[in-house]
Amino acid sequence: MFRVVLVGAGDRGMIYARQSLAPQSQFQISGVVEPNALRRKKAQELFRLPDHRLYESVESLVRDEKIADAAFNCTMDALHTVTSLPLMEKGYHILLEKPIAVTRQDAMRIIDCARRERRIVMVCHVLRYSPFYTAIRRIVRDGEIGRVISIQMAEDVSYFHESVSYVRGFYADPAVCGSGMLLSKCSHDLDLMAWLMDQDLPTRVFSAGSVFQFRPENAPEGAGTRCLVDCKCEQKCIYSARRLYVDHPQRWANRVWNDCALSEGSDAEKLESLKSENNPYGRCVYKTDLKIVDHQSLLVNFRSGATGTFTMTGGASAPGRSLHIIGTRGEIQGTFEDHAFTVSLIHPDIPGGCLKRQVSVSAGSRPGDAHGGGDENILQDFFALLDHREPSICCTSLEASVIGHNIVYGAEESRLTGLPVPLDVPGNR
Ligand SMILES: NC(=O)c1ccc[n+]([C@@H]2O[C@H](COP(=O)([O-])OP(=O)(O)OC[C@H]3O[C@@H](n4cnc5c(N)ncnc54)[C@H](O)[C@@H]3O)[C@@H](O)[C@H]2O)c1
Repeated sequence: MFRVVLVGAGDRGMIYARQSLAPQSQFQISGVVEPNALRRKKAQELFRLPDHRLYESVESLVRDEKIADAAFNCTMDALHTVTSLPLMEKGYHILLEKPIAVTRQDAMRIIDCARRERRIVMVCHVLRYSPFYTAIRRIVRDGEIGRVISIQMAEDVSYFHESVSYVRGFYADPAVCGSGMLLSKCSHDLDLMAWLMDQDLPTRVFSAGSVFQFRPENAPEGAGTRCLVDCKCEQKCIYSARRLYVDHPQRWANRVWNDCALSEGSDAEKLESLKSENNPYGRCVYKTDLKIVDHQSLLVNFRSGATGTFTMTGGASAPGRSLHIIGTRGEIQGTFEDHAFTVSLIHPDIPGGCLKRQVSVSAGSRPGDAHGGGDENILQDFFALLDHREPSICCTSLEASVIGHNIVYGAEESRLTGLPVPLDVPGNR
């Protein structure tokens, strides 16, 4: 039984920590670091912790004796470096939420510290563990489609997720979150691109993106600054806060009500709260002075000469992650949300010239599980590493995780300068 200290008892932290309560669990939560008193109390009750195992900060945790084998670091992006370094120095291995850090320099500080202190740090690239991406990785790795010439990936962020998290919510504000859209939302996708390309390292990236939609000049006529205060078109607007968070609360509204401590509140209380100046989720989406992009594309060059493209579009009608890999012997094409993909292999002798097969990965998929089981499967690998057992093919080292992150850091630099950016690959600079 491993002992784990939970650092950050928010949404993500609790998803991992609750698994300690399952009958076959390999770990127990032996302490919680959380500055928010309400969340600390909730975690204390759930994991039956004594008062002296509750901490308001990592500083107070590391002043104490070492209380666990590992930490789940589920703090917000900008805190990953300042919290991970003392944890490693105190002797904790870490399951670290993505992104590793908000800058390349900070990611390197974490890597250097992990090497120096000989700590295991595993980044939560949970999508690797979904049956869809695991099956595709196996096919590419086994060489069935030959050498990869190009990999095209896209992430469509639905209008309801986009507006909750990346327009009105705290991921929209780099001063709070520390990351841009690409790092906070798409570091998964660029990790998947790097992972699927295997040993073929990215050498250069070019990127463009902007705020296309969520600008004041795009607001409908009669729009105010807050949906339920001064807006004349609230009833018709697809981004009406009332419609998104009260009338149809099943699509990401839990994020709103958790943040406002109104999860158990009545509809009347929620509507009242959306009117308040203090509730960011009641703001007009067109008038938030958005600091991060709402769409971005990038072109990646790999060492072999292969290319990759990735496009994130916020404000789509539905969520979707699609992928098309073309190799010298065939292709793979599919959409994550369909739980299926097509493999087409070049066969000159058969009608049509290619042999197609559908691969279904729907077995065991749960409706509404955005990560296809990855949130559970990643813990198995983390504990396998701690236990010196062989992990799965999805397992990532810090060094491997930073490859996809480097694409993101480079893409942001490219978007801001308008120039292609060389990536730090051995022998590239
Ligand atoms: N792997 C994924 O698919 C995925 C999905 C969503 C978010 N994330 C990442 O997970 C991380 C957490 O996101 P979240 O949505 O759970 O955020 P959250 O705000 O719900 O949780 C963060 C928690 O950390 C606490 N905290 C703040 N300062 C702290 C400190 N100094 N020490 C300890 N705790 C502190 C906050 O009070 C909060 O409870 C982020 O880095 C985010 O980008 C990953």
